[in-house]
Amino acid sequence: MYAPAWDNEFARDVRAGLTRTEQKTLPCSYLYDDVGSALFEAITFLPEYGLTRADARIIQAHAGELIEGLPGNLVVAELGSGSGAKTRAILEALHPRQTLVYYPIDVSAAALAKCQLELSSLGAVVPLRTSYLDGMRQVAERRAPGETLLVLFLGSTIGNFDPEGAIDFLYHVRLCLQEGDALLLGTDMVKPVDQLMTAYDDPAGVTAAFNLNLLARINRELDADFDLRQFEHAVRYNTDEQRIEMHLRSRLYQIVSIRRADLIVDFAPNETICTEACHKFRSEQICRMARVAGFHLEAQWIDEEWAFAENLLVAR
Ligand code: AVI
Repeated sequence: MYAPAWDNEFARDVRAGLTRTEQKTLPCSYLYDDVGSALFEAITFLPEYGLTRADARIIQAHAGELIEGLPGNLVVAELGSGSGAKTRAILEALHPRQTLVYYPIDVSAAALAKCQLELSSLGAVVPLRTSYLDGMRQVAERRAPGETLLVLFLGSTIGNFDPEGAIDFLYHVRLCLQEGDALLLGTDMVKPVDQLMTAYDDPAGVTAAFNLNLLARINRELDADFDLRQFEHAVRYNTDEQRIEMHLRSRLYQIVSIRRADLIVDFAPNETICTEACHKFRSEQICRMARVAGFHLEAQWIDEEWAFAENLLVAR
């Protein structure tokens, strides 16, 4: 059957986002092609972006305590594992106690390969290259009686969902779990606006490159003619929504053609495309989100240098 050239998910999403009458948008998941993933990794080393280091510090400091509080015979699954670098401390704490099965779930083949290479000395690493929820379903199908699942969702990726989407996502994770299973959820907390603005608009321009790469990706994959020099990285803090918003702002009036999405789109001067929302949390909001999704908040650790929390949620 005839299928138009734009009949793939990326082309459809770009078409839908750029033909919106109010704010143009692009889904943030498309920021992470190979170039975008490498740029994101560079972001995690920036002195201005303390989130990833805080996440790793808490895990390093509390892995033993976390594991001790959970039942024996744990199976670990990680949503968006990347190379699994932060997870090592948890697997090391488990290693002396039991044989280990770890399911990293990610869409990046390169990240999963790295994860397997670096962590397989600690136990069986079973990579699942798929979406988060499909991976969760596969893990649930493979569980044996008497096992407890520990799911890791680190790095505050939950903040990239809108608030209702976050609860809905956690609820769907909960549907794959049994009572007593655990979810370790990383959340970046509300902090001074200046600190957030430089974290997402660093002076070296790494985050700007990460953001602009999305247009470069559309050029590469959808045969478009975005002139990257005619767009600039723009960051806003939305106080009411407690979120940083990343935008790409058009420097002038321009027309762009995206051939594989069968789309010609124009941009007014200063018009923006919203490419990512990074929600920040307060403790009571995490507690509520956990409860509505079918968990209770069992423990919470907060980093002293960078307001970031690791939350241990237990399925009710
Ligand atoms: C992946 N995610 C949790 C990052 C964040 O902080 O929301 C993505 C990011 N965007 C710009 N810098 C980092």
